[in-house]
Amino acid sequence: MDGLDALKTRYLAEIADASDEAAIEAVRLAALGKKGEVSLKMRELGKMSPEERQFAGPALNALKAELGDALSARKQVLGDAALEARLASEWLDVTLSPRPRAQGTIHPISQVTEEVIAIFADLGYSVAEGPQIETDYYNFDALNIASHHPARQEMDTFYMSLPKGANRPPHVLRTHTSPVQIRHMEKHGVPCRVIAPGRVYRADYDQTHTPMFHQYEGLAIDKDISMANLKWTLEEFCRAFFNIDNIELRFRASHFPFTEPSAEVDIRCSWDGGQLKIGEGDDWMEILGSGMVHPKVLSAAGVDPKEYQGFAFGMGIDRIAMLKYGIPDLRAFFDSDLRWLRHYGFAALDKPTIHGGIAR
Ligand code: PHE
Repeated sequence: MDGLDALKTRYLAEIADASDEAAIEAVRLAALGKKGEVSLKMRELGKMSPEERQFAGPALNALKAELGDALSARKQVLGDAALEARLASEWLDVTLSPRPRAQGTIHPISQVTEEVIAIFADLGYSVAEGPQIETDYYNFDALNIASHHPARQEMDTFYMSLPKGANRPPHVLRTHTSPVQIRHMEKHGVPCRVIAPGRVYRADYDQTHTPMFHQYEGLAIDKDISMANLKWTLEEFCRAFFNIDNIELRFRASHFPFTEPSAEVDIRCSWDGGQLKIGEGDDWMEILGSGMVHPKVLSAAGVDPKEYQGFAFGMGIDRIAMLKYGIPDLRAFFDSDLRWLRHYGFAALDKPTIHGGIAR
């Protein structure tokens, strides 16, 4: 058969030149594919005389085998080279020391606020907000705290200075998150279920008081909300937040101008060996004030108290953060001491969620 040598020389050269797998495959198809040159020549065997076939058959088979070998050898070489290149580019020195941990941490107040939001979101609450510089009206009057009311003095209010000639009471740094109750109902109406976390201010400073601290307000208004719903909600929250099943809360009759009846709520705990434990022992720790929203407060917010009722509560975020994470001194929260932040802070990507987990 003519031309087999030329075919062989040409294809061997093409194989040697192929620089990647696609090129090799192209050469293979051109030579050995169904319609490849060698395959076509194989077909010609049928038309030959037996004598011719005796020579051409083995010669073609040899050519086919040789090209096949050359193709796979070249493929192997290219594959090895590709692997080499990949190994070189992905090389990793596993003896290097680990990267330093991220410099910043999430402050416990931010973490606990997120935890509170996650738990209440699961109960169907949304987040409401209000200004930190508040009018006398929203901070006091609308909440049924008249101007002669002792609560105004008790709260050690910070007053903003009044512009000369202003004919109104001075604004205040809000002393609690309760004004958000009014603002929310005014703007969005009822029924509602909201929490309002944020900063509040009182002129007070010792181991358990700082002039700025954090509260979150809870407010649930509808046609048939009762004190029993309040109790269930707070117990449910504490179980989830402290991650303890046998939480015990104590409701103590109390007085707030904006709720009737009112209750302060304590949580059972023990201080054995200076170690605080929630849910056991003989001690009680106050964590919040609460009650059924006063009809006058509903009226002030434009809600008909004959049709609607509900509960409100105000909880200290700093207080429950100290309880949960065993942080002894409130003042350290606001010292910006990096060593303290590294110790009590949280990893930036460790976001609390109901499904992912609340506690660290
Ligand atoms: N605002 C009250 C406080 O700061 C807490 C509270 C809120 C009590 C809502 C009753 C209802 O002490």
